[in-house]
Amino acid sequence: MAITFEQVRTNEEIRAYIRHADESLKALGYTEHSLAHVTKCAVLAGSIMRETGHDEREAELASIAAFLHDIGNMINRNGHERSGAMMAFGLLRDLGCDPDDVATVITAIGHHDESTAFPVNDVAAALILADKTDVRSTRVRNKDTILFDIHDRVNFAVKESDVTVDTEKGEISLTLTIDTSVSTISEYFEIFMGRMILCRRAAERLNMHFSLVINGQVMM
Ligand SMILES: [Fe+2]
Ligand SMILES: [Fe+2]
Repeated sequence: MAITFEQVRTNEEIRAYIRHADESLKALGYTEHSLAHVTKCAVLAGSIMRETGHDEREAELASIAAFLHDIGNMINRNGHERSGAMMAFGLLRDLGCDPDDVATVITAIGHHDESTAFPVNDVAAALILADKTDVRSTRVRNKDTILFDIHDRVNFAVKESDVTVDTEKGEISLTLTIDTSVSTISEYFEIFMGRMILCRRAAERLNMHFSLVINGQVMM
């Protein structure tokens, strides 16, 4: 059966696991990884697929993968891409999802964490781009930590963040406005360089270039 993103998004069991996964990350001091993060990723991953010429089914699969991608944090942050893929395997099979679709989705989830990420298929590429470009001040839970936590400081410094797909130029761009009185641009790179290189690889998988613009300057 062809499972839809709407079925996954409104599934109460899945939503409960996403909330619990985020509670563990909150206890560990991580930025927000809850429904706000995964819904934003799902919408963006679907639109990246549509705008890069993929059909509606492939776009739906990217949204499903993105909605489920951080669910494994409920088990442990370490290896959450693998535990999340296994959880998604069970959840999607319970919903009667086609085996080919299950495979595409869990492959993408299993390859999204920075430590082992790789755009092994187009859905994985869209997920990497959607996940790694979600930087925003609203992901910081506790503003008191920005003085000593570089991750919080860098996220908090992002005042505006926008991802655009320009099919004519063949370019996917992340455009950021950073408050440099909160965090320097070099701090941003210290934290996000690996993620930006992944975005470049993911864009290439989709036959696009990746560009990063910070405070009006083209950085890559
Ligand atoms: Fe993740
Ligand atoms: Fe994520």
